[in-house]
Amino acid sequence: MQQGTAVVTGASSGIGRAYAQELARRGHDLVVAARDEARLSALAAQLSADHGVTVDVVRADLADSADVARLAEQITSDPRISALVNCAGLWIAGRTLGSDSPDHGPMLAVNVVALQELTLAAATAFIARGGGGIINISSAVVMAPERFHALYVAGKAYVLALTEALQSEVAGTGVRLQAVLPGFTKTEIFDRAGGDVSAIPDAMKMAPDLLVEAALAGFDAGETVTIPSLPDVADWEAFLAARAALGPNLSHDRPAPRYRLSAAV
Ligand SMILES: NC(=O)c1ccc[n+]([C@@H]2O[C@H](COP(=O)([O-])OP(=O)(O)OC[C@H]3O[C@@H](n4cnc5c(N)ncnc54)[C@H](OP(=O)(O)O)[C@@H]3O)[C@@H](O)[C@H]2O)c1
Repeated sequence: MQQGTAVVTGASSGIGRAYAQELARRGHDLVVAARDEARLSALAAQLSADHGVTVDVVRADLADSADVARLAEQITSDPRISALVNCAGLWIAGRTLGSDSPDHGPMLAVNVVALQELTLAAATAFIARGGGGIINISSAVVMAPERFHALYVAGKAYVLALTEALQSEVAGTGVRLQAVLPGFTKTEIFDRAGGDVSAIPDAMKMAPDLLVEAALAGFDAGETVTIPSLPDVADWEAFLAARAALGPNLSHDRPAPRYRLSAAV
């Protein structure tokens, strides 16, 4: 991560707060954004006192397109900004279908649309500035889509695909993107969603500061996708190799023989 100011969304709690703390420790000035201005201001005061960095507070509801546009404009117009960490997000417990499922609009607005708009603004600005880093928090749930709220999983899969695809577009510009796929992380996200994670063994739940330390080590090592819990990176490389092996057979002028129902085809 090159020096400069880092914008961290969702910095009032959990993973975003841990990113703000670690980036301040590394000497970055910060712009911290979320809705809870009091928590952001307390964090800003603490980080300035502890690390001598400048921390600007931006109160933004990222489910509101006007607030997203304002933050995107700040990223575009402030040449000191060289990093964006998209951490703001929410989760919905349970299944997608059924009358008791809460409104998924705000979740998709924050997890998908706001992240997308801020990523595009930052990527464009950072290319013009000759470099920068964009970190997008996806989730390990994308590897087990059948087990979680379908729209939460789909949103996190979008984040992963967006990040991988844009990384190929910024190659050679000095800009880098990273998608981080946390497993269960000990934050407020479950309480906020009314979800019960007490049945999840402690051995499966990571502290946010450890998660961020590992994710930034992955970024520093040049990874586009980081799964902080995964012990052996060869497992991810095998997954990528299996995906790439499909490539030559994903587009032909006729269906695979097992689907050829008509002899005329
Ligand atoms: N915890 C996990 O197990 C886990 C696992 C995989 C991925 N993730 C992802 O990690 C990211 C961070 O979540 P977390 O676990 O750190 O949860 P968290 O402790 O609940 O933090 C969520 C952050 O997002 C902000 N936020 C929520 N709605 C917002 C809105 N409308 N506008 C602006 N900010 C908003 C919150 O700030 P305000 O309330 O102040 O606005 C808070 O700072 C999310 O994208 C989540 O999906 C979490």
